[in-house]
Amino acid sequence: MDEKPTPDDPCSYLQKHNMRVVLNMMFLAGSDTTATTMEWCCLYMMAHPDIQKKIQDEMNSVVGRNRLPQLSDKNNLPYTRAALLEIQRHVTMLPLSDFHTAGNEISLAGYCIPKGATIVPNLYAVMRDPISFPEPDQFRPERFIDENGEYFESGRVVPFGVGRRMCPGENIAKMELFVLFTHLLHRFSLVKPDDVARVTFEGIYGAQFAPKPFTTIFLPRN
Ligand code: HEM
Repeated sequence: MDEKPTPDDPCSYLQKHNMRVVLNMMFLAGSDTTATTMEWCCLYMMAHPDIQKKIQDEMNSVVGRNRLPQLSDKNNLPYTRAALLEIQRHVTMLPLSDFHTAGNEISLAGYCIPKGATIVPNLYAVMRDPISFPEPDQFRPERFIDENGEYFESGRVVPFGVGRRMCPGENIAKMELFVLFTHLLHRFSLVKPDDVARVTFEGIYGAQFAPKPFTTIFLPRN
């Protein structure tokens, strides 16, 4: 008989304890990642005032100054989306994603991967691959704009990982980043303080690659 497990069934995955751990995990994995990406966004905008201005000009013409951008504006803001995607590609905040274990022996591209082997997905190598992204070290949002001026996503920008265990928060993270990034640049310009000689992209490797503490000016826009 094929009975559906219930939350009270001790064999079910839907036990209270599991639910608590899953929810906890969603908050843990979902907070710092988005916040750190936003920190990088501030740094990239401060370092590239020309790109920041292009984003703000695009928002001026699509959204105007009388309301904040919203998710439904997304399709009309190709350059803004391209810049956000390029930040995620260029910074590669989780360069080695999460480690996994092969559940079974498998054969991949002629290699035998034994059961129990540790798998380290190298997202950095994928997102800095010069074949997929010519001059990969250059920060260039235009690489995600086609000849008709439309935004396109490359399947090789993989900040959320790949495969079955990829980030389950991808969609919510993309929405959060779009709203935070556009609201921020709609209201403020990020400016390098005069006493900062140059913007540095040095970061700290921990659970994720985070920028070193930095100073910026949030200049209110009219
Ligand atoms: C910019 C934001 C984010 C980035 C770059 C990111 C990236 C990633 C990556 C690379 C993984 C590992 C995937 C793998 O194991 O192959 C992961 C796992 C995970 N992420 Fe995210 N994430 C983000 C936001 C979020 C948000 C907002 C949530 C929840 C609301 C979330 C929940 C999780 C969870 C629960 C896992 C573990 C999944 C598992 O072990 O099967 N993430 N994330």
